[in-house]
Amino acid sequence: MEKYEKVKEILRKNGQEQLLVCYDKLDNEGKEKLLDQILNIDFEQIKKLYENTKNNKNINSNDDLIEPIDYVDESKLSPEDYKKYKEVGDNIIKEKRLAVLTLAGGQGTRLGYKGPKGKFDIGLDSHESLFELICKPLKKANKEYGVIIPWYIMTSNENNAETVEFFKENNYFGYPENEIKFFVQGEIPMVGEDGKILVNEKGFIKLAADGHGGVFKSMVKSGVLKDLNNRNVEWLVIGPVDNPLINMADPIFLGVTASKKCMAAGKSVVKANPEERVGVFCKRNKMPSVIEYTEISPEMCNLRDEKGELVFGESNVNCNLFNMKRINEVAENELPYHAAHKKADYIDKNGKLVIADKPNAYKYETFIFDAFESMETMAILRVKREEEFAPVKNAEGVDSPATSRELYKKYYNIK
Ligand code: UD1
Repeated sequence: MEKYEKVKEILRKNGQEQLLVCYDKLDNEGKEKLLDQILNIDFEQIKKLYENTKNNKNINSNDDLIEPIDYVDESKLSPEDYKKYKEVGDNIIKEKRLAVLTLAGGQGTRLGYKGPKGKFDIGLDSHESLFELICKPLKKANKEYGVIIPWYIMTSNENNAETVEFFKENNYFGYPENEIKFFVQGEIPMVGEDGKILVNEKGFIKLAADGHGGVFKSMVKSGVLKDLNNRNVEWLVIGPVDNPLINMADPIFLGVTASKKCMAAGKSVVKANPEERVGVFCKRNKMPSVIEYTEISPEMCNLRDEKGELVFGESNVNCNLFNMKRINEVAENELPYHAAHKKADYIDKNGKLVIADKPNAYKYETFIFDAFESMETMAILRVKREEEFAPVKNAEGVDSPATSRELYKKYYNIK
């Protein structure tokens, strides 16, 4: 009872009394769980996030100094440079200084797929899942270099059990089981348009994944960071689950970054058109950064240089490389939250279920590439789209299973 009174007082102070609307209907275990959930909420943080949401605006060069960023074009490297970088990268892999991490916490909402996105079958005759397709080049690198690259997979509370089960069922796709480690990403409450935290259909706090920028804190919490440090891993490549052409064990990427003494790197492809839904690399107030497609202004999207090329045309393919020293530092700092306006069903303050037919709530996410802003040195490696970028985002049209499948088949010469 004491706990209940304490929670009630906290909620009263923060104007969030609706969170106990279903309390009386829960069994004892449920009651405990709800009280603990509430005690874990950082109400100050939620209040600040909500207030910032109201000030959200497009990024344009009037607020920040936004400039194009230098990049290395892999296809234009001289044979000598290529050889030099390859040697540096080869050694990193051979000496077991590389680990990889797949971001698999997102839901395939746009794709209309219910399970973990990594289980998705893009429709190849082999019916391999995204997880299996991502695994293949890793296995190839293991063979080539005579190592086993540690593979970490970040899931979400929602899809962790199903993901782990899928790997088991598929015998880990032939990857050594003890070199794959799953860990769960963090969550943050969803907030209604009036600033009230939402209650889910079961009477608990409506939580949502806190974005892939949460990877750093989740690495600490789950012991993954410690594991990487214990293994003396020096470089970590973090990539998405939704690109079957992703090349994570890439000696050139490693070689360019290490040779230039950069602490982080990202791969880019030339933006297909001003409207393409990709983030673009830039320098923001002199620091490396990515401007998301949801946040860039139309003027910046369309800006062209004297050669007619897009000024902000280095698209982020979300293949990120970090030196472990920096991961340790980033994990201790806060990344900024970005608000997304989403549809969310919830129980209102009268205990009535509200079914959302239009966006009615805010989901807060941190982005992994915001960590770049603390890196004074970062390498951008421009790679060929047809070799490394076949994203699966939408059910139909651009970046769909059909386009991804075609790109995949073309690259691997599959009939
Ligand atoms: C992303 C990039 C964009 C880039 C594009 C390239 C972000 C925010 N933007 O866009 O700059 O140009 O890919 O394809 O990443 N994920 C989690 N947990 C989460 C959220 C996402 O693990 O809480 C994972 C997803 O499973 C996916 C990856 O992160 O593997 C990308 O996430 P998504 O939100 O789908 O990014 P996009 O909007 O497609």
